[in-house]
Amino acid sequence: MTQITKRNHLIVNVNGENIQISGDEAFQPLAQFLRNTLHKPGTKVVCAEGDCGACSVVTSTLRADGWTPLRTINSCIAPVYLFDLSCIVTVEGMKDAEELSEVQNKMRDFHGGQCGFCTPGMVCSMAQLAEDCKTSGSAITEKKARNYLTGNLCRCTGYEPILKAATHLDLNKWQLLSERYLTTDLTSKFKSHLSEGVEIQSENKKLSMPTVLTEALRIKSVNPAVRLVAGATDLGVLINKAKTSLQEIMVLNKIPGTQNVSGSASGILIGAMATLTDVENFVKSDHPELKRLLHIFASPQIKNQGTLLGNILNGSPIGDSIPPLMTLDAEIQFQSVRGARSVKLSEYYKAYKVFDKAEDEIATGLFVPALVGNYVHRYFKVSLRKDLDISAVTFAAVLKLDGGTITEARISMGGVGPTVVRMPQVESLLTGHSFSEKTFTAAGSLASSLIKPLSDLRASSEYRHLVTENLFKKCFHEMDTEMNSKMEAVCP
Ligand SMILES: Cc1cc2nc3c(=O)[nH]c(=O)nc-3n(C[C@H](O)[C@H](O)[C@H](O)COP(=O)(O)OP(=O)(O)OC[C@H]3O[C@@H](n4cnc5c(N)ncnc54)[C@H](O)[C@@H]3O)c2cc1C
Ligand code: FES
Ligand code: FES
Repeated sequence: MTQITKRNHLIVNVNGENIQISGDEAFQPLAQFLRNTLHKPGTKVVCAEGDCGACSVVTSTLRADGWTPLRTINSCIAPVYLFDLSCIVTVEGMKDAEELSEVQNKMRDFHGGQCGFCTPGMVCSMAQLAEDCKTSGSAITEKKARNYLTGNLCRCTGYEPILKAATHLDLNKWQLLSERYLTTDLTSKFKSHLSEGVEIQSENKKLSMPTVLTEALRIKSVNPAVRLVAGATDLGVLINKAKTSLQEIMVLNKIPGTQNVSGSASGILIGAMATLTDVENFVKSDHPELKRLLHIFASPQIKNQGTLLGNILNGSPIGDSIPPLMTLDAEIQFQSVRGARSVKLSEYYKAYKVFDKAEDEIATGLFVPALVGNYVHRYFKVSLRKDLDISAVTFAAVLKLDGGTITEARISMGGVGPTVVRMPQVESLLTGHSFSEKTFTAAGSLASSLIKPLSDLRASSEYRHLVTENLFKKCFHEMDTEMNSKMEAVCP
């Protein structure tokens, strides 16, 4: 049997400097560590819950197949232990020697930095924009700049100069961070540690980062209280708000393959540690409706760090990815020392935060079966604003059509009760009926009569009833338009 080496410290590179981190510091939010331990106060903390982007830094992690793309994340909610064998670039690391970088120069030239608090985060998001556009050879448009800056809040109506700075970047003057920081020296140094696991014990916390699944399953079976942490975008907020405190933690990101997203004729397999960004990029061409929904999910920083599995396993009744994946009949794959099993999403949510999951089980992936035939999809997120907002109501419909008749219907909704739900009665009403506004109006009325939504800060119960009825009508009109335009393309 091969002996697996374990380290009792993390190895991280910050702005070109290699650092070993052990004990309590490994469990701190990255922003706190950067500011208080490394004395890099450029990274600001304002909301401490992933909402404003002031704490944005750029990161890349070395895996067996190379460095992950450099991406911005929110360092206020991300614990340090997620960054083993990672390179982190803060706003201090953007400048080269004593020269400001192109991003910083343009922010200064266009007066993009007014308060000083949001500015470092804006610079980091803009650095990713410059990095991606230069690497792919694409131009910076205002739309692209807005998308990259979705997770950076300016509270003083200063977006115009910030967008001007972004759209005036001269990419010839942008020195790639990947070339500056992900050097061959660093790569070979980190490579020699790739096969090592990490186990860190502080005064009252323990972290396990095994390198093989059998070891992870063993740890979970011996101690079911060990909490799995994926991207920590849900857990990090709870910890910062003192709503939870994790003593025993396990992270699967050192187990090869856990970040993978792969496709075959039978469907898509999404690994437990695959980020929302990776999934969004993967489904871009084959599943544009899912891509559209993921585009308005949170912010780039959250999607670069958070995982799809984390969204599903967190099990919020307003988790945005759950209704579409439920209508696609997706299955969570679980493993424990007792064996493997799959659970359909429609059977996973038993009551508010009560799941069909044994204490010793670890989710290893999500399988999304391929649909073959004439299917149409619509996924809606109803929220107060388009970007970076929590949903009031979510809706997903997948219909199979034969001529003008609905031959199969799958409907799922969130925000209408304690869990996301499949709606079998509504599906029966739609199936076998004509694809018409009348059928959808009847389906909307039935759906509204079946739900028991709460009134809360996001919406009243009455609103949720009304919006449910209206979403069925919207679904009909959008699907009708889509099918008519497909017909026009075939018979112009
Ligand atoms: C600012 C902000 C905006 C957000 N916007 C949205 C949004 O628009 N839509 C939305 O739906 N959500 C949103 N979220 C919530 C969150 O980002 C998502 O739910 C995300 O997908 C969680 O993934 P994660 O990897 O960070 O999960 P984590 O926080 O790491 O974990 C979530 C849960 O899953 C469990 N878990 C993780 N991996 C495993 C495993 N392998 N086996 C068993 N259990 C496991 C954890 O123990 C935990 O209970 C937002 C959060 C923030 C902070
Ligand atoms: S401080 Fe607001 S996102 Fe981190
Ligand atoms: S420039 Fe910082 S909040 Fe507007």
